[in-house]
Amino acid sequence: MSPAVERVGPAPIEHAGEDRSNEIRRRLAAVEPHCLRTYTPTLAVLAKSAGCYHWTPEGRKLADFTSGVLVTNLGHNPTRWWRRVLEYLGLDALPYTGEFVQARTLNAYNAITEIETVATERLVEHLRSQPGGEGLEQVLWAASGSEAVQKALWAALERRPGEDIILATRGGFHGKKGLAGAVTGCETDHDRDPRVKFIGFPKEECGSVERRRRPIDLAPYRQELDALWAEYGSRLCCLITEPYLGGGGSFHPQHEYLQLLAGWCHEHDVLFILDEVQANFGRTGSAYAFTTYGVAPDIVVLGKGLGNGVAVSAAVGRAEVFANLQYGAGSDTWSANPLASAAVLATLDEFETTDVLEHAAELSRVIEAGLVRLTELPAVERIRGEGVVWGIECAPVGRASAADVAVRAVEACYFGDAQGRAIHLLGPLSGKVLRVSPPLVMELDEAKVYLDALYEIFAALGKKLASA
Ligand SMILES: Cc1ncc(COP(=O)(O)O)c(C=O)c1O
Repeated sequence: MSPAVERVGPAPIEHAGEDRSNEIRRRLAAVEPHCLRTYTPTLAVLAKSAGCYHWTPEGRKLADFTSGVLVTNLGHNPTRWWRRVLEYLGLDALPYTGEFVQARTLNAYNAITEIETVATERLVEHLRSQPGGEGLEQVLWAASGSEAVQKALWAALERRPGEDIILATRGGFHGKKGLAGAVTGCETDHDRDPRVKFIGFPKEECGSVERRRRPIDLAPYRQELDALWAEYGSRLCCLITEPYLGGGGSFHPQHEYLQLLAGWCHEHDVLFILDEVQANFGRTGSAYAFTTYGVAPDIVVLGKGLGNGVAVSAAVGRAEVFANLQYGAGSDTWSANPLASAAVLATLDEFETTDVLEHAAELSRVIEAGLVRLTELPAVERIRGEGVVWGIECAPVGRASAADVAVRAVEACYFGDAQGRAIHLLGPLSGKVLRVSPPLVMELDEAKVYLDALYEIFAALGKKLASA
């Protein structure tokens, strides 16, 4: 037997009464570094999932307010979606004989499968049929959001010699790797890439649902862009932004802000890259956030909900922009693999043939009403959001800071209210913001039940902390 690995790093998370989960957590902590996850105090072990629910190995049911991380927009394991994925792969009648089966290969590296062609055509067609998507012509596939961002930025940097400056919105999140990491955050973060210049994002002006309804003064933002043009002019190659700051704390700007950025880019022939990795496939009310916000990106970056759980992402833009990347520059092992293509096709089928967006609009109203109610409570400072992606900014209570309250709320939701209604949340964004982003298909009655539970849990937590 190999010797036991000495534990290094933080103690594994464990919870009383979860023997099976604790055993799984301990075993994994021995063989996996903790950096693989962003801190979430519950570290739920998910044994089974269906629709909008998870079950722990102990059989406890958790309502999913996360959709993974805005991935399973159509819910967990929808049967029609799965059936279509299998059919697209040619696996609809799998003979369990132990032999090989004639179906799509799972890796056609540097070869082509027809399913990739169909998925790419269908995605382009779907994007071009949406207001603002008319100019999107080709798909540069990737396997994760940050890789797709990286490919979009590579294409922008190659477009014209001497164009080497990238503009990015301050406080944004585009991933951690390579150029995606370089355009994330702000200039004071360590090790900045000198090619990236950050521009202001109107966090104050969209800090709460009420404030966002009021107009925004765009003049300072326009002046900042003009000043950068005066300084760098023809060296500017692109501007990358998210529709709303997701990882940065759920800040959803007035539409006019994004329209200013897009219009300014258009006037100055600077590529406007919209990172919709977490907003795409229905989160903001339309299939794509560029429609919600009334802008037409030169490149849109897609991910997460695109594959409803299968790892796939893409940068989609004009053929002329991608043509400058030479053979191999955008290639890797997983891009456009047949499983990813099948998942994209099944996701498109659902969005094109069902009323998922109409349902999401109703769900949005239910969520907003439920979250607005939370602001009556001392533990909640304010809420922000749109569609089916919301943030609860926690408030300090008693001796607990807002960040402590956020962490305690995640734990309290996991263990549920007096009626046993438990909710799966992720660790706080930006220190003190909890994201509420259930699958778009959550039934309205179920959402109401769990929003009531959220209220009860926050109320009880506030009381407990106030008297501590
Ligand atoms: C807007 C945005 N862009 C890019 C990414 C990076 O995606 P990935 O984690 O798949 O690399 C994320 C992930 O949360 C995101 O929210």
